[in-house]
Amino acid sequence: MRPTIVFLAATLALVPARGPAGAASSVPAGAAASAAPAYLDAPYAPARDGRPQPSVAQLTELGRAMFFDPTLSAGGRIACASCHDPAYGYGPPDGAAVQPGVTRGNVAFRAVPSLRYLHSLPAFTEHHHDDEGDDSADLGPTGGHTWDGRVSSAREQARLPLLSPAEMGNADEAAVVRSLARSAYAAQMRAAFGADVFDDTRRAFGAATLALEVFQQSPRDFYPYSSRYDEYLRGRAVLTPQEARGLALFDDPAKGNCASCHLSAPTPDGAFPLFTDFGHIAIGVPRNRLLPANADPRFVDLGLCGPLRTDFIGRPEAAAYCGRFRTPGLRNVALRRVFFHNGVVHALDEAVRFYATRDTDPAHWYGPDRGLDELPAAYRANLNTDPPFGGRPGDAPALSEAEIADIVAFLKTLTDADLPSSPAPLARDRDAGTSTTPQSPRPAPGRAARPSPPSRGSAR
Ligand code: HEC
Ligand code: HEC
Repeated sequence: MRPTIVFLAATLALVPARGPAGAASSVPAGAAASAAPAYLDAPYAPARDGRPQPSVAQLTELGRAMFFDPTLSAGGRIACASCHDPAYGYGPPDGAAVQPGVTRGNVAFRAVPSLRYLHSLPAFTEHHHDDEGDDSADLGPTGGHTWDGRVSSAREQARLPLLSPAEMGNADEAAVVRSLARSAYAAQMRAAFGADVFDDTRRAFGAATLALEVFQQSPRDFYPYSSRYDEYLRGRAVLTPQEARGLALFDDPAKGNCASCHLSAPTPDGAFPLFTDFGHIAIGVPRNRLLPANADPRFVDLGLCGPLRTDFIGRPEAAAYCGRFRTPGLRNVALRRVFFHNGVVHALDEAVRFYATRDTDPAHWYGPDRGLDELPAAYRANLNTDPPFGGRPGDAPALSEAEIADIVAFLKTLTDADLPSSPAPLARDRDAGTSTTPQSPRPAPGRAARPSPPSRGSAR
């Protein structure tokens, strides 16, 4: 178990509601540029013209406007929210394994993660030590944004989709800034960051990614802790007998053992669980043969050791990291139709069944005689074999079908109160070719038409 410390993002501490009035004057007017500390150019630095810092509420509303703005993509049709749909906990809007970006041919090979409950995600480290309990144990690679932890902050993260040809497809930062300057909220940006904000591409782009980051720290939007399980932890709700059995199986080290990675208990200091310890683990999910990238048999997504993450490539000790992906949180997981980093599984019970039968019925997962079809033989030792994994082909699985159903019933208690109780729709027509689910019979809605931002008054 690895308790997670919950703290407000450092960003918020750096962005006081009103800037220290005298902050600007502490920099002598004519100070030589070389004497000015580097942070002065950061978007959160005291404004040199003495204007108040943008408030958290201002940044949140700006970030919200950007998050839902399709004009920030090349071609003007894809917003952050097209892939991270607020109706499904900022997870994928439908059952397509991967979401298409601006160019059809340039499809990503990772499933869209939910953006809820990432507010205390630690930066990536190779050697994680617990703050509570046994702090001498090295718990290995932990944290970082994306499935392979390669991105250090939500601010840095926002650059990726804005500039990636597989996602929002802008040629460069200047293209994004031109769209911002033409946007409906350009005046709000000038008010928050200075009348001349659009004159300096770097500053304007930095302001935009800061606003997106602060928006993603909005408690009401991103970490409401309003699920039935939270109410149960507060002593204000009871679980049904089946849900309670599911929780017990989820926690039992000899049965589901899920909570050893997907933490389910409040931390000793009372923070509610995020259902992940953010550890990077290889569990050997099957290859998704329907992903366009996988048409090339030589292509493998090895998580920590590439291809998207490059800092470990060529380092000998990194062989132990191949095939590892960051453990996702399971809050709102019942709203998903795509599971695991490559979206190969499309039903929650099937995702739980994978744990029960990976080793007892490998043919079901990898096809006859194929064995672990994505993890190269050289990295087999990386595969996690803790319960509920284990056993030999033909053995009884660690969890019966009834027990799998109990765990699924429990996982459904993790859905936040403001979200629907049923999962995202099946894949839409537009996703033909990127989905392993039957296509939805209804016509694909125009991307630009959906979704619209929930109207919210203030940051909290
Ligand atoms: C075309 C679909 C698409 C669009 C558009 C998109 N994303 Fe993502 N997003 C993804 C995918 C796929 C990942 C996982 C990437 C990976 O693991 O390499 C991701 C990952 C993230 C993460 C990291 C989450 C985690 O679990 O660490 C954040 C934060 C994020 N996106 C924010 C944004 C923001 C902000 C925007 C708009 C500026 C945006 N995304 C636009 C598909 C998209
Ligand atoms: C040893 C650590 C570990 C244990 C034990 C574990 N998981 Fe996971 N879980 C992971 C990792 C790592 C992933 C992502 C793997 C990937 O995509 O390659 C994951 C992914 C998932 C997902 C997919 C979520 C998504 O957003 O795609 C579900 C559902 C899930 N686990 C449920 C469970 C349940 C239920 C149990 C117990 C029966 C369990 N896990 C036990 C580490 C673990």
